[in-house]
Amino acid sequence: MAKGRKNGLYSEISEELSALMRTGWADTERHDLQLDEQAPYAAHRRAALSARFPGERLVIPSGNLKVRSNDDSYPFRPYTGYVHMTGDQARDCALVLEPRTDGGHDAYCYQLPRDGRDDNEFWTGVTAELWMGRRRSLAESGLVLGLPCRDVRTAADDLAADSAVPTRIVRGIDPILEAAVTTDEERDEELEEALSDLRLVKDDWEIAELRKAVDSTVRGFTDVMGELSVAIASSERWIEGTFFRRARLEGNSVGYGSICAAGDHATIMHWTDNDGPVRPGDLLLLDAGVETHTLYTADVTRTLPISGTFTPLQRKVYDAVYEAQEAGMAAVRPGVAYRDFHEASQRHLAATLVEWGFIEGPAERAYELGLQRRFTMAGTGHMLGLDVHDCAQARNEEYVDGVLEPGMVLTVEPGLYFQPDDLTVPEEWRGIGVRIEDDLVVTEDGHENLSAGLPRSADDIEAWMGRVAG
Ligand code: GLY
Ligand code: MN
Ligand code: MN
Repeated sequence: MAKGRKNGLYSEISEELSALMRTGWADTERHDLQLDEQAPYAAHRRAALSARFPGERLVIPSGNLKVRSNDDSYPFRPYTGYVHMTGDQARDCALVLEPRTDGGHDAYCYQLPRDGRDDNEFWTGVTAELWMGRRRSLAESGLVLGLPCRDVRTAADDLAADSAVPTRIVRGIDPILEAAVTTDEERDEELEEALSDLRLVKDDWEIAELRKAVDSTVRGFTDVMGELSVAIASSERWIEGTFFRRARLEGNSVGYGSICAAGDHATIMHWTDNDGPVRPGDLLLLDAGVETHTLYTADVTRTLPISGTFTPLQRKVYDAVYEAQEAGMAAVRPGVAYRDFHEASQRHLAATLVEWGFIEGPAERAYELGLQRRFTMAGTGHMLGLDVHDCAQARNEEYVDGVLEPGMVLTVEPGLYFQPDDLTVPEEWRGIGVRIEDDLVVTEDGHENLSAGLPRSADDIEAWMGRVAG
């Protein structure tokens, strides 16, 4: 007699039920699957990684489900480096690059196979397909990914048994695989850095995905405009739900928690409670991005007058941020320092804040001392891709201290935030927050603004709202 689940209503599984469950199933193996269109790009990315680590075994896990409670899990998010190197999104997997004597690597992928029907796992196990949905078989994954695939249930033993090969693993993703290998923490960090470095310049396929993400995001912002009157009668949650519907319909999800910040919530950089009122006369700062089915995300912000028209003071702040964004975007082109666009925007905002009398001048001194940061809070942008803050582990010299190259995709997102309790500014300024954020790809001779489909200037915002706001 096999044992049933704890607290299940059925405490036991009879031999007869067990036998009944194991019989009468069709062969559903698929032989028609095609190589995924991303596979050649992923192979190219693996070749670049291989060249950095000759003679070493590299283990890049995808990660496991995280239990929320009992048999309920948080939504699974595969490790970004795994997705980039394989194009795959499955859990409990690991890409292995096995060194060859000629200096290159052979790549293979450990995957969780389909459940057999010769025991009860397929309907009682924690990864049971009957409950969680069908997985690909190892052969099917091989066809789709263009990689030989092996059973992940032997991975820890395989890796532990063959421990003479110098190995690196990305830590913090799969504790079982991590325990099976003997590695050095610093050298493992270098692998993680390399995986981040290699995402700095996007290939053509990735740029096309980011374009899709941004285009869906533009439609999501337009949806929100169309439902503004419903949001006014409801709350910021209506805006969150409206954008989320577009994200789920056209993509995988949102690429990060949507910031639907009306009124003084706009001064909170990571406002995601989204439970406040939406009042005519206030501003709405909407920072949201659709994530494609392939997990590339947009990251766009527009700040809108909920009534459809900016007050003179709102417009004054808006225009300052707009001009700072213009200055930043003008500095996005190949061959210039990554920091240039940030510095151009921040210089503009520092000078404006000095002019308004909120920080002490002269402007260059204020900028050098970073005084504007009381009101600008954050940097002016970041790399964008599979992660909203992409390439976060890249080496400084490649990223923040590096130089822009064609194929890099980044945000330019200056802002001004006057906290509701800031006694250094007049009362009417308090609670105003403005950010404008666009997604730019660096081209051979400058940049393309992928999110140019959304209006940006104060006049264009008002005209757009007049046309589409519901
Ligand atoms: N939405 C997060 C950011 O703009 O960086
Ligand atoms: Mn951003
Ligand atoms: Mn954003």
